[in-house]
Amino acid sequence: MKTTALDDAYRLLDASLMFYQGRPVGTAAANDPKGPAAENYRECFIRDFVVSGLVFLADGKVEIVRDFLLAALEVTEREHGNPEQTIHPSVMPASFRIRHDALAERLEGDFGERAIGRVAPVDSVLWWTLLLCATVQASGDRALAARADVQRNLKRVLALCANDAFEVYPTLMVPDGAFMVDRRMGVYGHPLEIQALFYGALRRALHYVERTPENRRLIALGEQRLANLRDYLRRFYWLDLQRLSAIHRFPTEEYGGTGSNLLNIHPESIPEWVTEWLPEEAGYLVGNLGPGRMDFRFFSQGNLLAILFGLTTVRQATRIMSLIEARWGDLVGAMPLKLCFPALSGEAWRLLTGSDPKNAPWSYHNGGNWPVLLWPLVAAALKSGRRPLAERAFEVAAERLPQDRWPEYYDGKGGRLIGRHANLCQTWSAAGLILAHKLLEDPSLLSLLPE
Ligand code: GLC
Repeated sequence: MKTTALDDAYRLLDASLMFYQGRPVGTAAANDPKGPAAENYRECFIRDFVVSGLVFLADGKVEIVRDFLLAALEVTEREHGNPEQTIHPSVMPASFRIRHDALAERLEGDFGERAIGRVAPVDSVLWWTLLLCATVQASGDRALAARADVQRNLKRVLALCANDAFEVYPTLMVPDGAFMVDRRMGVYGHPLEIQALFYGALRRALHYVERTPENRRLIALGEQRLANLRDYLRRFYWLDLQRLSAIHRFPTEEYGGTGSNLLNIHPESIPEWVTEWLPEEAGYLVGNLGPGRMDFRFFSQGNLLAILFGLTTVRQATRIMSLIEARWGDLVGAMPLKLCFPALSGEAWRLLTGSDPKNAPWSYHNGGNWPVLLWPLVAAALKSGRRPLAERAFEVAAERLPQDRWPEYYDGKGGRLIGRHANLCQTWSAAGLILAHKLLEDPSLLSLLPE
């Protein structure tokens, strides 16, 4: 069964390759002509490609990943070189496609102007940086990191620390839908996934950016931000029963330099579900945090990436894994893994999603189960010494995914139904299973995404 699933996944991955000037430079997000928004999914998304890219690196196919990195960079440089461009200078495209004109081929990026909801893909430059460093790590090709255009892009990550936005926290402030959840879901502000990616990418960028006098200021800012971000996340995003009790008894309206409730979180905002749901000896990083606002929802990818990038302490990592184990039915269920828990419903769904039917309760981003999240689950479990948990999740996915033809996501509280509007033949569902398998076979691959 396992071999058939992997063969099938590789067939899908190969079929998704996109060619530019005769060379593979990316993978289409899905190969489902009947799927919703089929045109959109024919593009190569930066965040989706990272999963394919890690598989290619593990298979020694460094060229494809290198060509992808440079293609995405070419589109970015062209955009930022245009005197009329108005987008933020650190943004990379969400996706790109290959345009075939009468005489030539052309790479065309989407910086949010075509994407559904016209959202800003803040995570693209962060994922790109992580994949770049994995490529250098896998190939030893330091010349790639030293290229002038690559160095300029690494500086785009550091420049995010230069405080040119209206920020007071070390976290990065973004609009709704700036990452994997690319539509309105009440995830504006300081969502965990962006913070984890920012931390991982900033750390890698600092490692590879040249230590020139010209870069000195940005490097100092970056190092400072990294340390502050880590301490802030570990302290203020962390939630376990002890911390929940403290929040439950928080004093409010504290003015001045000290106090225990710096963000003025009102105990009345603690949702009922969390008190019952949070097991003893477990914990997690909350989904979002801002003034007077703690989003108690559990977002899987942010928590898992935080473990992988060493943003959590070892004790916190253990406790996040214990949460997944203790709440297996809620979080893993019939298909690893739920994107977030619990779903928004009723008035909260109406107000926070703008009554989005695609994000109906327990569907899609709103509590749907996403096979692509298997690989970070397996990676984080292996890193935290919880191999049996990783194996168990892998078996669940390997059994169903080929049978169901690699859906993009699953619906329902237990993730038992193929998503109502899900594409089939979704590339990162297949690449995610291959990557999870490779990690289980050879955990040293974790070094591609080092702390
Ligand atoms: C959806 C997902 C997004 C993904 C894209 C392509 O828009 O929300 O995370 O990158 O599809 O698969």
